[in-house]
Amino acid sequence: MKIIVAKDPKQAGMKGYEIFADALNNGAQVFGLATGSTPLTTYEQIANSQLDFSDRLSVNLDEYKGISPDNDQSYQYFMDKNLFSKKQFKHSYLPNGLATDDAEEIKRYDQVIAENPIDLQLLGLGLNGHIGFNEPGTSFDGGTHVVDLTESTINANSRFFDNIDDVPKQAYSMGIGSIMKSKKILLEAYGEKKAGIVAKMIEGPVTEDVPASVLQNHPDVVVILDEASASKLSK
Ligand code: GLP
Repeated sequence: MKIIVAKDPKQAGMKGYEIFADALNNGAQVFGLATGSTPLTTYEQIANSQLDFSDRLSVNLDEYKGISPDNDQSYQYFMDKNLFSKKQFKHSYLPNGLATDDAEEIKRYDQVIAENPIDLQLLGLGLNGHIGFNEPGTSFDGGTHVVDLTESTINANSRFFDNIDDVPKQAYSMGIGSIMKSKKILLEAYGEKKAGIVAKMIEGPVTEDVPASVLQNHPDVVVILDEASASKLSK
């Protein structure tokens, strides 16, 4: 793993942008994208740049189940607002939160990923170490699946909703097996609250209890931290 420690999320966002720019210039065709507050500074840099993604594809990690794409809490809405409305991609794939047949939707999304191998996958980090919506205990080699969100994730994500009861309890998520097949992975994590889980991800044992620890087994991972999230690393 290559670890980059930036001063703050804004500077870190610049570093993230540079990795996207390099990948684009080196011919990456498929970009795996993430939601959450963390990627926002990178998306902002990309949105304000001259980078041209109009002949490239994007594949998102996850989507809440049971909310429509135009619901302002859906990940489709988030992506439209923060990136796609400003930077055009040839096509952008997300799981369909309104799918009625889980097995069909899972099959469809796995096929999307198989047909469009991800060159650069961007990840955030959940407070419990989740990546995408792969919660602790998720198998390291699975594909797309329906996730029952943990209490920790529901609480963490409730800050975006008026009422905790409005937070969806399930989501579709790309599996860890699919994430690990990406050619290159960029994980971003900022803030003091993430310092403990960042240290476990990088320096702790590789265990399903800390999903992001699997990244220690990937040959090309860049982790971008800010000073606060790096503060519990031993070196
Ligand atoms: C959600 C998303 C994850 C994201 C995580 C962290 O649960 N499914 O993909 O990494 O939140 O969010 P934040 O970046 O806001 O801390």
